[in-house]
Amino acid sequence: MADSLQTIAPQVHQHHERVLVVDFGSQVTQLIARRLREDGVYCEVHPFNRIGKAMLDEFAPKGVILSGGPSSVKRADRPHVDDAVFALGVPVLGICYGQQIMVDQLGGEVETAREREFGRADVTVQTQSALFQTVWAENGTYPVWMSHGDRVVRLPEGFHPIATTPSAPFAAIADELRGFYGVQFHPEVSHTLDGARLLSNFTRQICGLKGDWTMAAFREEMTAKIRQQVGDARVLCGLSGGVDSAVAAVLIHEAIGDQLTCVFVDTGLMRKDEGRQVVDLFRGSYNIPLVHVEAEDTFMGVLDGLDDPEAKRKAIGKTFIDVFEAEAKKLGGADFLAQGTLYPDVIESVSFDGGPSVTIKSHHNVGGLPERMNMGLVEPLRELFKDEVRALGRELGLPDGFVSRHPFPGPGLAIRIPGAVTKEKADLLREADAIYLDMIREEGLYDAIWQAFSVLLPVRTVGVMGDERTYDWVLALRAVTSTDGMTADSYPFEHDFLSRVSTRIINEVRGINRVVYDVTSKPPGTIEWE
Ligand code: XMP
Repeated sequence: MADSLQTIAPQVHQHHERVLVVDFGSQVTQLIARRLREDGVYCEVHPFNRIGKAMLDEFAPKGVILSGGPSSVKRADRPHVDDAVFALGVPVLGICYGQQIMVDQLGGEVETAREREFGRADVTVQTQSALFQTVWAENGTYPVWMSHGDRVVRLPEGFHPIATTPSAPFAAIADELRGFYGVQFHPEVSHTLDGARLLSNFTRQICGLKGDWTMAAFREEMTAKIRQQVGDARVLCGLSGGVDSAVAAVLIHEAIGDQLTCVFVDTGLMRKDEGRQVVDLFRGSYNIPLVHVEAEDTFMGVLDGLDDPEAKRKAIGKTFIDVFEAEAKKLGGADFLAQGTLYPDVIESVSFDGGPSVTIKSHHNVGGLPERMNMGLVEPLRELFKDEVRALGRELGLPDGFVSRHPFPGPGLAIRIPGAVTKEKADLLREADAIYLDMIREEGLYDAIWQAFSVLLPVRTVGVMGDERTYDWVLALRAVTSTDGMTADSYPFEHDFLSRVSTRIINEVRGINRVVYDVTSKPPGTIEWE
């Protein structure tokens, strides 16, 4: 056993050229990181008030990007960044609030504009610059996306304007000697058509980075890191059936072989054939030691009669930990627990009033277990976004159909059966849901949808089949588009497709006689029904 709880997040950044993204709380800060990573540049997002000399020395960025944010430079308690950032001798790019605070800290002036500017604007390039190279030409005008109240009115010494808009004379500014650049608009959002290429110019032309962040490199470095972290200790990994824990397990197995044991708790709340697929994949294709715990009866027993959504979630979470812990003990314990925690789960976000707040999705992990069992943590994916995990899964040879699966919530089908859960209802839902998803795949729509699933409503309605009266359950279909699950729109299926799904389900699943489609967006709805 580990002596004390170690939250070891293997850091890969020693091996990569890296950019520091300083977060001032913009809603779109994560997009900066995504754009850079898509371009092969490793970067991390850190809150503005966690940046100091020691952190900078340790992180040793080759470039810094200051994000936008909701605050005003004119506020007395304005969020700002440690001046050490400007003394590093590396290029800095300020975006929106990031530009304003850089100007303010370096001795220029910012004012609150009479008119706030939101949405599309046209910038005109005044002077050619490394930031625009091969993307924007001198005197050309290009669409960008703005969202700001304050604006720069006097530049610090050394800076000059390189692009303007009718209302922002300093829409883009540069001090080439120091490598400091600022843009009033948001290059990270897709509405700024050439934004990704401007960011690429910053990292490659201005910071001089090669862009060597590839999944093949990550795989090699991370397996070495895991070996170094774990030594000859034993690691347990809880498989959820989802992509993240599966990718984490395969990567760890590549690093330490049979020192890893996977535990798959079949709660009876999985989708059709999910349990079998996981077992086949791990035992069959990868030869990874896997303990398959059949716990359907236990979970159904615990859920019996529970109809409150939170009570159901809590009961499932607690039972999961109990079952997992009992299995871990049977196996003689382990020194480390492996989890498929992702970057968006650990990224520290900055709240609107400027104070840092931590968002960690506790439902992703086997919460509380590492402390209870005094285990260390192995979290090899905690620096990756979901699409990077999928790319890593493909790199590791996981089947594409598995890697591109839609997200599935920890509490499983229980939160897709509003009200009390029974095995009969779970079975009905599983059958109907499998038909719905098959038809979406056949139609070629699966990858265009963030998540599609069915919900078995606690409502029975009258119908007629053949010449007989039926009195059966209602099934709701849900499909949403989203980029991160935080906001979502219902997917605009063709009416004809929905009719065909309805017909097949009602014909093939005895017990369901009516199908409806959920058109609610998030907000005000949530993606799941409970
Ligand atoms: P909501 O319903 O909050 O869902 O709009 C947002 C996303 O999170 C997933 N979700 C969960 N994932 N454990 C998980 O691992 C959970 O308890 C959980 N609840 C919701 C949901 O499927 C959607 O992708």
